[in-house]
Amino acid sequence: MTPQRTLVLVAHPDLESSRITAHLTSAIMDLEHVTVHDLSAAHPDRQFDTAREQELLRGHDTIVWQFPWHWYSVPGVLKEWMDQVLTYGFAYGTGGDALQGKRLQLVLSTGGPEASYAEAGYNRFTMEELLRPLDATAHLCGLEMAEPLILHSAHGVDSDGLERHTARYRELLSAVPAAAGH
Ligand SMILES: Cc1cc2nc3c(=O)[nH]c(=O)nc-3n(C[C@H](O)[C@H](O)[C@H](O)COP(=O)(O)O)c2cc1C
Repeated sequence: MTPQRTLVLVAHPDLESSRITAHLTSAIMDLEHVTVHDLSAAHPDRQFDTAREQELLRGHDTIVWQFPWHWYSVPGVLKEWMDQVLTYGFAYGTGGDALQGKRLQLVLSTGGPEASYAEAGYNRFTMEELLRPLDATAHLCGLEMAEPLILHSAHGVDSDGLERHTARYRELLSAVPAAAGH
């Protein structure tokens, strides 16, 4: 039995200006069996090498989408990656079974506090509700969606809070069960 191979797709439009995503990314670089892939660096002209991205997906068991929450959704770079990489015949549709049974882990940060993501809060909807399009995408592609890891109040979190969250993230990536038959 070989260990789980995890592909972390880091989706931030400007990693240099990021606090949270940049910190989390540098904190997981040394983990064994984890491949960190910066999506903004992988599409300088807004065009992904679809074959290469699909090969990366084929070679891993767990896929992580790590991103800041932008306009109640994923950043544009991750949406572009979905549009160009999750193609018919690869990710869904006839013969599109490349992702069947793999695991999808969302790791995201929001500016809004946890309490704002509620019917009575100023963001009106829960994160579970807002994440439904991603849940539906995972389902269509045969990906098993794990419980998302969310850091709320990203602007207000102090360095201790960020370190605690980072430790949880490292633990989560280290704790993925061994893959059978790979
Ligand atoms: C263009 C843009 C849109 C954003 N939209 C939201 C949003 O819809 N809800 C929210 O809670 N935070 C929103 N934020 C705040 C980001 O989620 C927050 O700045 C980010 O998680 C911090 O991570 P970073 O340091 O890696 O950029 C937005 C930020 C930007 C720049």
